[in-house]
Amino acid sequence: MTAEFTTRSAADVVAGLSIEQKAALTSGENFWETKAVGDVPSIMLTDGPHGVRKQTTGADHLGIGDSVPATCFPPAVALGATFDPQLLERVGIALGEEARAENVGVLLGPGINIKRSPLCGRNFEYLSEDPFVSGELGAALVRGLQSQGVGASLKHFAANNQEHDRLRVSSDVDERPLREIYLRGFERVVTAEQPWTVMCSYNRINGVYASENHWLLTEVLRDDWGFEGLVVSDWGAVNVRTHGLAAGLDLEMPATGGRSDAEIVAAVHAGDLDEAVLDVAAERIVSIVQKAVANARDDASYDSSAHHALAREVAGRGIVLLKNDNDLLPLPSAASLAVIGEFARTPRYQGAGSSLINPTQVDDALSSIRARHDNPDAVTFAPGFTLDGSEGAGLADEAVAAAAVADVAVIFAGLPAAEESEGFDREHIDLPAAQLELIDRVVAANSNTVVVLSNGGVVRLPFAPAVPAILEGWLLGQAGGSATADVLFGDVNPSGRLAETIPVRMQDTPAYLDFPGERGHVRYGEGIFVGYRWYDARETDVAFPFGHGLSYTTFAYADFAVTADAAGLTARVRVTNSGERAGREVVQLYIGLPESTVQRAPRELKGFAAVDLAAGESREVEIVVPREDLAYWDVRAHRFVVEGGEYAVSVGASSRDLRSNATAAVEGDEVLVPLNGESSIGELSADPVAGPMIQQAMSELMGTEAAAIASQDSIHKMMASFPIGRVANFGVGVDPESVQQLLDAANAQRQTPNA
Ligand code: BGC
Repeated sequence: MTAEFTTRSAADVVAGLSIEQKAALTSGENFWETKAVGDVPSIMLTDGPHGVRKQTTGADHLGIGDSVPATCFPPAVALGATFDPQLLERVGIALGEEARAENVGVLLGPGINIKRSPLCGRNFEYLSEDPFVSGELGAALVRGLQSQGVGASLKHFAANNQEHDRLRVSSDVDERPLREIYLRGFERVVTAEQPWTVMCSYNRINGVYASENHWLLTEVLRDDWGFEGLVVSDWGAVNVRTHGLAAGLDLEMPATGGRSDAEIVAAVHAGDLDEAVLDVAAERIVSIVQKAVANARDDASYDSSAHHALAREVAGRGIVLLKNDNDLLPLPSAASLAVIGEFARTPRYQGAGSSLINPTQVDDALSSIRARHDNPDAVTFAPGFTLDGSEGAGLADEAVAAAAVADVAVIFAGLPAAEESEGFDREHIDLPAAQLELIDRVVAANSNTVVVLSNGGVVRLPFAPAVPAILEGWLLGQAGGSATADVLFGDVNPSGRLAETIPVRMQDTPAYLDFPGERGHVRYGEGIFVGYRWYDARETDVAFPFGHGLSYTTFAYADFAVTADAAGLTARVRVTNSGERAGREVVQLYIGLPESTVQRAPRELKGFAAVDLAAGESREVEIVVPREDLAYWDVRAHRFVVEGGEYAVSVGASSRDLRSNATAAVEGDEVLVPLNGESSIGELSADPVAGPMIQQAMSELMGTEAAAIASQDSIHKMMASFPIGRVANFGVGVDPESVQQLLDAANAQRQTPNA
């Protein structure tokens, strides 16, 4: 049966099914499986994203019931900070191996929503505040996963950037930010990797539920981007099932006990739903089931220790060295150390909710530090605080006393698990007061203090000026403890970069006044100015900028050159490791168009490349920016358009550590917006065809002298905003017909410029 099933065309399989059978295919059998119908077997979909959460008992989307042991790779927050697509592809491959070993057909991830506000409770599950980073890294994860014959589910589509009221809220987003920021990463992944499935989100977009949004699920996703897979609902996201089906939502999950299938059947019989629509959805489901079945292997297994080692490697790459005054790090392996903070012993390595993985093993930093130290007895430990915030002063006093007598104090601080979860947002970005106080006291007792942070969303760092060395350790997965020791002792030279800005205070953040909305709506008032685009446009100070991350060595940049051609831009720069140990630099390319006719961020990341260099080694790095990546979304033409002009191109080690600047002249795409009575005199004058025509008409009407006066700067500016159709209202001898004639002539000539 199976061999025949997988080789038949999906249309042929579906042609043999009744309406009831086809409808049955379009919703789950239970929480995690599709229905077996006729010749079509059932397959399993399961969370995701940074491990396989295959439940053994119970079924829930909240991470409550048990699941089989699986490698807990670093959650997306740390994956994003690696800025390393090759590494993430390897993570994808490992996830695929584990999914196959568990007979899982589709793994529910990656999540690539934009981190719009630091308060989003699920930011730990997302990659970046920047769509280029989210898109590139998301694509790498999908590529790796699907290379193993396991489908990805790119989620949550779309504009799902908060947890507050997530099942109802309407994300009210203007066309430009929607396309340029919130959809662009999805577009990259879909066009580059064809994920088997896309998961529509719970929320509404501009008033319409994602799950029944024809524009989103069909016009954008399929017609514009060419998506060939199936759309699955987020668990329980369906509003009206038949509307969803007609909009392009193929598979409803989990199961409704046959209720929604019956609604579909009734709608087809009543003539309210075209059976052809049902056929298409059923065919898409059959195609994915065929792929999953064809790739399933009864004997599939994976090497859990190799995956643990990979989790450690990735975690080491995700750690960001924020600060390292006087080269306090790496730690000498003989220094006496006061390790402080409960997180050193009891690591926080993932967030709560549907992504909660049951790890195969967990490394804690304290044991790993002791194991790596020349003399484990020289490493003291004081918890300093409790995870739930109970008890206080005694633990803190003990920790400060330990810090005072050690060569170096290393404090593990972080957010309580209860503050970060799927399902609700954070209320602030502060570490617990007891921890902040402890850090102040420890650094006062020992100026050689290192702070290691565990947090899924960014936190305020009021202690940053006083503390000489800070490692941002995010949530690092099951091998985070050993990876932290690797970085502390310099076995791994840190190369992680901030994929999101660390602000000075919440009030500075882009969505501060528009998050999480009210009365069922959240207005994306900051428009395209999300993340560093906002701070840069407003020249706001930040604690640590997007793209920032130090190394134990230093890098010098030279010979930066940019060339432009029809295919886009090519930038080249020579990077030299100017320090004393091998290291990895993430070279970042930012582009702006200062003279743009539309609002723009001062600079946007358009390319990055990592380069590994031995001490003293030097290499040329090339970054290519395809022309389409220069485009902005034109709200007149409703498409991406490359604006012509002199682009400012910068290369650097972060968005605020630009080492070299260049310019590149780029020819623009032509955008022909038809001219009509609403077109202003200014717009017409600026048009290469209509401009001279208008000039001539004015000379004829007013005489050359008066026309010359009219073209004077101030008069010209005054007249520029007049819609041409209104000129006839001023009794200056211009009638509507002659205006229309001029417009017709100009439009005709613009269509066929050489005629
Ligand atoms: C989450 C999804 C998840 C699904 C299944 C939902 O609550 O939003 O990300 O894949 O549950 O657990």
